Amino acid sequence: MTGRRSAAPADAAKRAVATAAAGLVADGMVVGLGSGSTAELMVAALGERVRDGLRLAGAVPTSERTAAAARARGIPLTTLDAHPVVDLTLDGADEVAAGTLDLIKGLGGALLREKIVAAASRLLVVMVDESKLVDRLGRRTPVPVEAVPFAWPVVAAALQRLGARAVRRRVGADGTPFVTDEGNAIADADFGAIADPGRLERDIRLVTGVIDCGLFVGRTGLLLVGGADGVRRVTPA
Ligand code: 5RP
Repeated sequence: MTGRRSAAPADAAKRAVATAAAGLVADGMVVGLGSGSTAELMVAALGERVRDGLRLAGAVPTSERTAAAARARGIPLTTLDAHPVVDLTLDGADEVAAGTLDLIKGLGGALLREKIVAAASRLLVVMVDESKLVDRLGRRTPVPVEAVPFAWPVVAAALQRLGARAVRRRVGADGTPFVTDEGNAIADADFGAIADPGRLERDIRLVTGVIDCGLFVGRTGLLLVGGADGVRRVTPA
């Protein structure tokens, strides 16, 4: 099977969850807009609803890229200053623990604003296709860790002591260090299968120089999973 053929069902699943998620938004809401390819499909679907007359109090984007996509679709943007409480945030994920709905996020580099907007939200809705579901977080995906660039050697050593193989994220052929929208560095920390995501999240956040990490524990309010049979809704136990 070619790459193009195998990609098609996943694309259809992403589009289906993105459309279902955009359908949850009601008039007057403050909406958090996640980042990544699924979130961008959701922004497109939400833009269509705005064009058809949906009136938002405003949308808080979790990255500059999502902000640009939302502007292009005519979605009115707002800030946490104007709206410190977000009614509903719609975001993707890199891994979802099928039992607990805990997440790894941040392969797209937007984890910090994503976590801040999730923390401000009454409900976090996570949109994934079935390939993102795992039994234990960390087996396939490293945990992205956002850190102050000045602190990089200290953070790398501390992540190693916590049991990770950590590499600084780089971009382009010349290996330029990746810089987040907040001007920080990202370490991709491979812990293997994670036994206790809550404890690991706390341990990582205690490292001096770390700002936050891509473990989202106990934050998912509703999971939408796109698959061959349509969109499945899962709520935390
Ligand atoms: C970005 C993220 C994204 O939500 C995550 O990477 C999923 O992206 P995609 O929908 O493209 O698979 O956390 O920081």
